[in-house]
Amino acid sequence: MERTAVRPEDTSIAIIGEGVVGGALRRWFESRRIGAGSYDPPKGLADKGVVERADIVFICVPTPYARGRGFDDAMLLTAARAVGGEKTVVIKSTVLPGTTAMLQERLPQHRWIFNPEFLREASALEDMMRPDRQIIGCTPQSAGEAERLLALLPPAPFVRVCASGEAEMAKYMANSFLAAKVSFANEFHDLCVRMGIDYAGVRDVVAADERIGASHLDVFAGGYRGYGGKCLPKDSMALLELARSFGVDMRMVSAARDVNEDLTAARGEESLRQARIAALERDEPAEAAA
Ligand SMILES: NC(=O)c1ccc[n+]([C@@H]2O[C@H](COP(=O)([O-])OP(=O)(O)OC[C@H]3O[C@@H](n4cnc5c(N)ncnc54)[C@H](O)[C@@H]3O)[C@@H](O)[C@H]2O)c1
Repeated sequence: MERTAVRPEDTSIAIIGEGVVGGALRRWFESRRIGAGSYDPPKGLADKGVVERADIVFICVPTPYARGRGFDDAMLLTAARAVGGEKTVVIKSTVLPGTTAMLQERLPQHRWIFNPEFLREASALEDMMRPDRQIIGCTPQSAGEAERLLALLPPAPFVRVCASGEAEMAKYMANSFLAAKVSFANEFHDLCVRMGIDYAGVRDVVAADERIGASHLDVFAGGYRGYGGKCLPKDSMALLELARSFGVDMRMVSAARDVNEDLTAARGEESLRQARIAALERDEPAEAAA
């Protein structure tokens, strides 16, 4: 309770991992005149004192998916071990359900919170500053920190303080739904093309339904088909593996992934075809383009 009374501007923040998420978060704190320093040795930000002096530490390091190894929490664990003392540690990296509770058990001196980030890379700062939801996933040991954290983070129309597992699963469900939406839209696009129907017109009508919305229905977003980017592909792979380990066959998520793999493979063939055409136009041997 005492901690809630601390003014945001008197709080010292450390951000581990100054990338898309960590960089946008630092700029949010700067805009509020809240002291925030970054610790990111691969980027030359190697002053560990930034973490030592902080009251609250945010972890924003990559959590990739590695074929054969699955969800790769190596960077997350390295970052977690870099935090000394007894602090509130907020994970913003996307982590599999159960990870925050696991860290609370392994490093019980800290109060662990999962605060999922929903920003889009293309509009990272804007999304960070004006989120549509702020979710604070707590462990029993960190529940008392929720109000204090909410006072520091960008305000949002929807706020929920819940168990860390709920927040972790919500992040995966949201990403899986968006991935499925892309695959679903692509299937309708192909049927429209075969039947001589204008997909853009169909999409606009469907997108006008408030329950569905326009996002992720543009099948040529970014100039290519299928979902890519840093998050959706790796998150769906990690989730499928987690579900399998619990004996749950997530057929919808799996079908969306399969459709996407076909689309992205076709994308590879298409770019090769385009490169060959460009090489022919430049009068170069075709192999040079492969
Ligand atoms: N990029 C997005 O659009 C987005 C959106 C929501 C959630 N996320 C999640 O947020 C996390 C971070 O994503 P990102 O896109 O910001 O990654 P990023 O690759 O842009 O940045 C990560 C940073 O962490 C640093 N780093 C790696 N290991 C470190 C360590 N041990 N100590 C300190 N710094 C370290 C890297 O040098 C890099 O600067 C991921 O889990 C991702 O799934 C990303």
